[in-house]
Amino acid sequence: MKRHFFVVNVVASALLLCGCDNNGIEAIDIEVPDGYSLSAGTATNFLNSSVAYDSDAPWVTGELATRFNHGDRLYDDVRTASGSLGGGLGPVYAGYSCGSCHRNAGRTRPSLWSDGGSGPYGFSAMLVYITRKNGAFFKEYGRVLHDQAIYGVQPEGKLKVDWRYESFTMADGTPYELAAPTYTITDWYDTEIPADELFCTVRIPLRHVGMGQMMALDPTEIEALAARSNYPEWGISGRCNYITERGVTMLGLSGNKAQHADLTVELGFSSDMGVTNSRYPEEICEGQIQMNQGSMMGLTYDRLDVSAEDMEDVDLYMQCLGVPARRNVNDPAVRRGEQMFYEAGCHLCHVTTLHTRPRGSALLLGTELPWLGGQTIHPYSDYLLHDMGSEIMGVGLNDNYVSGLAMGNEWRTTPLWGIGLQEKVNGHSYYLHDGRARNFTEAIMWHGGEGEASRQKFSRMSASDRDALIQFLYSL
Ligand code: HEC
Ligand code: HEC
Repeated sequence: MKRHFFVVNVVASALLLCGCDNNGIEAIDIEVPDGYSLSAGTATNFLNSSVAYDSDAPWVTGELATRFNHGDRLYDDVRTASGSLGGGLGPVYAGYSCGSCHRNAGRTRPSLWSDGGSGPYGFSAMLVYITRKNGAFFKEYGRVLHDQAIYGVQPEGKLKVDWRYESFTMADGTPYELAAPTYTITDWYDTEIPADELFCTVRIPLRHVGMGQMMALDPTEIEALAARSNYPEWGISGRCNYITERGVTMLGLSGNKAQHADLTVELGFSSDMGVTNSRYPEEICEGQIQMNQGSMMGLTYDRLDVSAEDMEDVDLYMQCLGVPARRNVNDPAVRRGEQMFYEAGCHLCHVTTLHTRPRGSALLLGTELPWLGGQTIHPYSDYLLHDMGSEIMGVGLNDNYVSGLAMGNEWRTTPLWGIGLQEKVNGHSYYLHDGRARNFTEAIMWHGGEGEASRQKFSRMSASDRDALIQFLYSL
């Protein structure tokens, strides 16, 4: 059973808000999915615990289960500098296993709040991208600033975050606060890069909820959404990112700017951990003095640190993870919040329902996962790029960093499935690409640009409707 309701008034007031023309408004027929829904079809699991993201889909059995467990181990095993198995770490790195940043297949607590950056000893669980102001990379440092290093080698530098706070009020006077980060890099291992030449942007990890479903999406459905998802009365129009590699152009789906077409297994090993592989055979610090330091300590760089077969098992592990079912779907507050989600137009970007293509997905070396095919899924994302604005606190979410077609102010709609369990799985409630939001309210109140109308709607809700909307997010 589906409930339908119309939002003529909502649309009309949005129009007033943006001062647009009132002609030709049609009621948007909003379809609120009825309560209990299987998030990812047959891959849905019913866990409500810290392993809710990190458990296999119900159809993972036999040989698939063996490979899943192997991939899971490779994903979580702590890498070290030497040693024949699980070796190859560094000499510089950002994380020591995939799971070090994606703990429990989630979002490891980043240290930007607790340690004000990389922290003196701690592990940051963040990726710090650095370039010259004109976008060119620094030869001595590369694209990612590696703030960790193996024993005897110096990290490339350390991240320092300064917070600027500002107080605001909702339409009804309820106060809230936002904090905007400013980044500096300290402890450069080599030539210090002057602040006015440096450009820096920071990312906290993404949850691994629905990786297989994302890879099994039908690109034509996403492209059709981009063509159709034009809601001028809301100021919303999403667009696709495309990646061209080795002469092939593919739709970008993964990463905060949809800047990757795959699950970045090879890149993760190489760029994040310094673990060389067939796609990225060169050490990340190739040519840097760090390499020599490693050699002096007896490390050799002439072999690949992880095999293609092992990387395919990591890919398999991620794509075979189950997606947690929604919880408390019949709670009256959750129901009310769901209605508010639609009334505020959140669903125009956080699209409720998509479909996977009939054949499912194929892994790095071609292994097919037909179980992922033909599923109706509820990711709460359109996987498209949206301009999220540059105004709020004078900066907005704009990081001035271009990734493929995505500009600084453009971000991929983050899939919200599983988000309600993040606190349980990872013990923190930091959201948005750089973790600047400390709770759901702040995350919503950072939505500018195409998200501005939604933000205003949220701000104008009664306190109890805002609470209900947040209860709904906890049910995802
Ligand atoms: C240093 C921390 C760190 C390590 C180590 C790390 N990641 Fe990530 N991962 C991130 C961050 C940060 C992002 C978001 C990057 C962005 O959007 O620019 C991310 C994004 C991803 C995504 C995209 C998810 C999505 O929803 O689009 C996948 C898939 C992924 N990582 C897989 C891996 C794998 C596989 C490994 C190990 C080989 C790995 N990661 C190691 C921090 C890390
Ligand atoms: C114009 C498209 C758009 C609309 C409308 C929109 N969002 Fe978003 N949302 C995004 C994008 C893009 C991001 C990622 C921004 C970033 O990380 O900097 C995001 C991020 C979020 C996050 C943080 C996710 C995470 O894991 O870090 C939450 C929570 C969220 N949105 C909730 C909402 C709610 C609730 C509404 C309605 C009040 C809404 N959004 C309306 C596009 C939209």
